[in-house]
Amino acid sequence: MSTAIRNGFSLKAYEPSDLDAVIDIEYQCYQYPWSRNIFQQCYTMGYSMQLALSCNIISGYCVMSTAMREAHILNLCVAPSLQNQGIATSLMHHVINEAHKRNCQRMFLEVRISNIAAQRLYSRLGFNQIGERRNYYRRGFGREDALVLAKELVSLYQPE
Ligand SMILES: CC(C)(COP(=O)(O)OP(=O)(O)OC[C@H]1O[C@@H](n2cnc3c(N)ncnc32)[C@H](O)[C@@H]1OP(=O)(O)O)[C@@H](O)C(=O)NCCC(=O)NCCS
Repeated sequence: MSTAIRNGFSLKAYEPSDLDAVIDIEYQCYQYPWSRNIFQQCYTMGYSMQLALSCNIISGYCVMSTAMREAHILNLCVAPSLQNQGIATSLMHHVINEAHKRNCQRMFLEVRISNIAAQRLYSRLGFNQIGERRNYYRRGFGREDALVLAKELVSLYQPE
């Protein structure tokens, strides 16, 4: 079942039959894409895997794990032809809400130091830099650092 977010756009939970469409976007967006196996493992692990649909065509996705009251964004991607229309923003609002429901206190993620578009998006959503991971990503023949960003979530959890 999908949820409408705006004219022509909706969100729905990932199902295994969506893998081909997701992999197609993944390969368009990343020089070092995730394999099919990684998406299958995320699904098996029960991670939150949210899809954005544009006129019923998969246009983006977000993968999030939650553990120990922390949420970790593992992947966020929008098809190049549909970027800059608010799809990633809608996906992030949805997973932030999901993390609230799972009683997470904090959300964090890594982003390439060169990925200015993603950093602007996360900054707009209230993420702050809390650290760096040296040589975290592959880049050409070398490595690239990651920024570690975090956003504090207002917890719904009420201790006894
Ligand atoms: C980073 C990424 C996920 C952003 O996706 P997106 O759907 O383009 O993001 P949004 O549209 O929500 O926001 C992007 C910009 O579009 C603007 N925008 C949002 N809705 C808009 C609309 N209706 N019309 C025009 N612009 C709009 C936003 O204000 C934002 O501007 P900014 O430059 O100030 O941030 C996308 O570029 C991507 O998939 N990149 C490759 C993979 C990647 O790098 N993922 C992140 C890994 S950490």
